[in-house]
Amino acid sequence: MTTKLIAPSILAADFANLQRDIEMVNNSEADWFHIDIMDGVFVPNISYGMPVLEAINRHANKTIDVHLMIVDPDRYIKEFAALGADNLTVHYEACTHLHRTLQAIKAEGMKAGVALNPHTPVNVLEDVIADIDIVLVMSVNPGFGGQSFIENTYKKVKQLKELINRNNSSAIIEIDGGVTSKNAAELNEAGADVLVAGSFVFKAEDPVETIKNLKFLANS
Ligand code: DX5
Ligand code: ZN
Repeated sequence: MTTKLIAPSILAADFANLQRDIEMVNNSEADWFHIDIMDGVFVPNISYGMPVLEAINRHANKTIDVHLMIVDPDRYIKEFAALGADNLTVHYEACTHLHRTLQAIKAEGMKAGVALNPHTPVNVLEDVIADIDIVLVMSVNPGFGGQSFIENTYKKVKQLKELINRNNSSAIIEIDGGVTSKNAAELNEAGADVLVAGSFVFKAEDPVETIKNLKFLANS
């Protein structure tokens, strides 16, 4: 059985102590840095952009997993590759020519991810699943950290796992939003491969221990 991964979301970090928080993740059992880029158009919030990603990449020593919550992501694919993104995830709802976008991401040497909003059914990926490396299932409405987990996600993960297997795809399943120690084990059971966690990690008294615990639950 492959190990399930933990991806702390830097959106919940202390930006006045960003280097400290990055070192914490470096020294923890976490596997990826999850980087949320929001444009205030696709989602009703603006997070941070290129200069912050450049700074993160200077200190981070793990996989950089970029989640684009922006319209017209094709415009920035080359730039994110140059800034050190290992995985680049775009939203299904923001891409008119998703197949082309996925090829463009892979041409830059990155893993190609597709995110689904809570209202988007998994079957829209049927004809493109063979070209996807990561499916990111939003378990909250994108735009903000600290929201409550949507319970329908378990069902969605099971349906997605079935779709992936049926199409002999090697895509992995990432869950984003409201992940805590309360849902990690059940998400693992449903078929999740990567758990993103923002507030639950960074607002914890002991973030390193919290990551360790999440990783244990995600693999139990
Ligand atoms: C939400 C972002 C998430 C967010 C998760 O739009 O995509 O990655 O940072 O934060 P928590 O874990 O606090 O729900
Ligand atoms: Zn995210």
